[in-house]
Amino acid sequence: MGFLYRKFVRKLLFNLNPELVHDAVIKSARAAQRVEILNALVRLVTKAKDFPVTVAGIKFRNPVGLAAGFDKNCEAARFLAGLGFGFLELGTVTLRPQPGNPKPRLFRLREDKAIINRMGFNNAGAWDAARSLEKLLPLPVPVGISVGKNADCSMEEAPKNYLETLKVMYDFGDYFAVNISSPNTLQLRSLHGGEKLRRLVEPMLDFAAGQKKVKPFFVKIAPDLEEKDLESAAALAVEKGFGLIATNTTVSRDAVPAYWRSYEGGLSGKPLRELSNAVLGKTAALVKGRVPLMGSGGISDGKTALEKLQLGADLVQVYSGLVYEGPFLVKEILEYLERRHWAPPRR
Ligand SMILES: Cc1cc2nc3c(=O)[nH]c(=O)nc-3n(C[C@H](O)[C@H](O)[C@H](O)COP(=O)(O)O)c2cc1C
Repeated sequence: MGFLYRKFVRKLLFNLNPELVHDAVIKSARAAQRVEILNALVRLVTKAKDFPVTVAGIKFRNPVGLAAGFDKNCEAARFLAGLGFGFLELGTVTLRPQPGNPKPRLFRLREDKAIINRMGFNNAGAWDAARSLEKLLPLPVPVGISVGKNADCSMEEAPKNYLETLKVMYDFGDYFAVNISSPNTLQLRSLHGGEKLRRLVEPMLDFAAGQKKVKPFFVKIAPDLEEKDLESAAALAVEKGFGLIATNTTVSRDAVPAYWRSYEGGLSGKPLRELSNAVLGKTAALVKGRVPLMGSGGISDGKTALEKLQLGADLVQVYSGLVYEGPFLVKEILEYLERRHWAPPRR
């Protein structure tokens, strides 16, 4: 089935403007998920063997999730769950709505099976996301909510801005991803620095600790980190007990033709794979199984998903692979894991 997407549908879609296609996909998914028979049909054609895993106290039906940024307003989650994902990470949500960067801001690097985006957290804001998600719950898979910072909020105000977003979204997520690694919000990635990260996450962890249900946190890191920032993020994760997601998109253009150097934004997809895997491997060596890890960056098939699981990821996430390989990607990955007799390691 994936073959049909790659041979026909992708050709058609790639003739159109990338952001237009994305918006149309989300709109169609929103409409389709209201029709139960359609959801059931999608579930049927994408069905694969389950690989139940428990990570951070949450039961996942398989370790392959949707990465943040695909469903920024948490509006198409029921349809997306039907594609076979073990979990969905929705958002990134900011407290107040914001339009994001000027268009064009999303580019396909077809030859490289990659994407450059400088969306800039375009989203309808936390209240809107919460309302959308409330209507869709309960969902058949766990949901993570990625939280970020409004572009017009100063770095001093950042911890408060994240915390307020978390408070609005808290009841609706199974876990929270703290996004400090998007290259498209000015200075966001400076939050990786040891003390800055502590000041950012402590209030959120304290808030969660005071709630009836204490939910787990993950911090999503950049692939372009200096060694010392990676070490301090890993040390803080172990100290505080939050997980890490390695990685977000890269600002490096080393793995793509020089032509793309003039395109600002984060690079994802195949050319990100090696860099992202290197950071995942280093992170796994630093945390030594003491906190959960997710791997994101350059997964395009079963082999590239399995290599992240073997590098120490408990869960993996896909975004660009979905664009290039289509809606049967999760099924293809799970079938590969089955062929390779993969079983979740006992950690
Ligand atoms: C168009 C686009 C938008 C994205 N938006 C977000 C976002 O809002 N928050 C986030 O944490 N990551 C975002 N990402 C990064 C992805 O979640 C993922 O970590 C990254 O693309 C690497 O995975 P991939 O190679 O499978 O795409 C975005 C990626 C793309 C391509």
